[in-house]
Amino acid sequence: MSTSAPATSNPPQRQRPQRGQELELTVDSLAHGGEGVARWGPGGYVVFVAGAVPGDKVRAIVYKPKRTYAHARTLEVLEPSPERIEPRAKHPGVPWQVLPYERQLQIKHEQVGDALRRIGKLEGFELEDIVPAVQQWRYRNKLEYSFGADVDSGQLLCGFHASAGGNRVVEIEDCLLTSELGNLARDTVAAWAREQGLGAWGRGDVPSGEALLRNLVVREGRHTGQVQLRLVSTPGEIDVYSLAQTLNKTLGERLSGFLWTRSGQLAETTMGGETELVSGAAELPERLGELDLRISHEAFFQTNTEMTEVLYGIATEYAALEGWERVFDLYCGIGTIGLTLAPRAGELWGIELIEEAVANAIAGARRNEITNAHFFAGDTRLALPELLEKAGKPDVVVVDPPRAGLSAKVVRRVIDTSPKRIVYVSCNPTTLAPNAAQLVEAGWALRKVRPVDMFPQTHHVECVALFER
Ligand SMILES: C[S@@+](CC[C@H](N)C(=O)[O-])C[C@H]1O[C@@H](n2cnc3c(N)ncnc32)[C@H](O)[C@@H]1O
Repeated sequence: MSTSAPATSNPPQRQRPQRGQELELTVDSLAHGGEGVARWGPGGYVVFVAGAVPGDKVRAIVYKPKRTYAHARTLEVLEPSPERIEPRAKHPGVPWQVLPYERQLQIKHEQVGDALRRIGKLEGFELEDIVPAVQQWRYRNKLEYSFGADVDSGQLLCGFHASAGGNRVVEIEDCLLTSELGNLARDTVAAWAREQGLGAWGRGDVPSGEALLRNLVVREGRHTGQVQLRLVSTPGEIDVYSLAQTLNKTLGERLSGFLWTRSGQLAETTMGGETELVSGAAELPERLGELDLRISHEAFFQTNTEMTEVLYGIATEYAALEGWERVFDLYCGIGTIGLTLAPRAGELWGIELIEEAVANAIAGARRNEITNAHFFAGDTRLALPELLEKAGKPDVVVVDPPRAGLSAKVVRRVIDTSPKRIVYVSCNPTTLAPNAAQLVEAGWALRKVRPVDMFPQTHHVECVALFER
């Protein structure tokens, strides 16, 4: 039965659903993770529902019950929300495509403000308008596909996992998150793999010695028109040279490089394993603004190239450099923010965990004739005090951490550097919020925040926050 908690003076009776139980739910809002939020039973037990938007009445199956809430997956929309529009993409990965783009922007803008006010308990900052994406479709420069088998025919598939909590792989004909070139690259590999009679590894399978296909990673230089492909398999033999020939024939000059990773891990991840270069160049060439870059497959690179230029424009505006400042770029990846800021600063120092990314950053500085930028490999928590000793106190610190944000300890390390200004680039407002609260507590003021839509049709939202002492 669907529900909202009835007003009662008795303590609510907490009824909990079981794994696999089907529920009828009415969704009334969207959570920060993008799932719909519904309440179930007399106690108003919270259920997060994948595949549902506010106003939907759905039949959903519980796949992760917890003590105070559960996660469920929509099986059927019983009564669609009046806000729903016709979906355009036929594949997973775009759950918000059923909402008009303007509404997506509005929700993302609200969620950034809500996280800072409710989680961070912050007030008095300017929440600037959200910057819409340049492209609402075909904007991703990197996609990771999974291999699987069709449940009926057993045929090899290369696509995305069906949905939250699901293990099934769905074949993709035209992925509307990537370009035509990205689609061609994937289809070429999938067709070759079927011809070879190769099989797919399933999540949790123990590798047996027979090489099974795990993932395909396609990364595209949007401004260079080149792609880098990386096939991930379990250990064993695959005729990757025949694939290299096929790729060269189909993609020609557009193929920058083809790599092969063999990994025996039990978890589904494209990280780790042993990687070899099969053909072409190990690094993908790309341009970003004025910068001429090379990207290693291990290195992070923002996945929406066009919007990264916009994001860095905001970071540059917030940094308000005059030309003499010492700037720290923490979590610098291949140094793209730092290299963008360096020509406007006195000196630039970057820290990044992944050594290959640091090597890309150092080479990028040289290639672009930027002589005042220095990059170091290390964990920010340990490397920042060392950098402080070596370089001296920074005037401006830029941080751009992964989704988990900064630990309280790292925020204390940043506070120790005592910069006048902190520019925080965040891909998760719910982890920005506690970090922001800690900085405000330590004497910085949160001046303004600008959300940026890097990921249309999904719940993900990026933002840039400016703190001043
Ligand atoms: C969101 S990315 C930002 C990269 C870069 N600023 C950009 O715009 O492309 C976060 C980066 O932090 C790095 N990283 C993760 N944990 C780290 C740590 N403990 N210390 C330093 N860097 C870390 C990741 O490898 C990744 O390159």
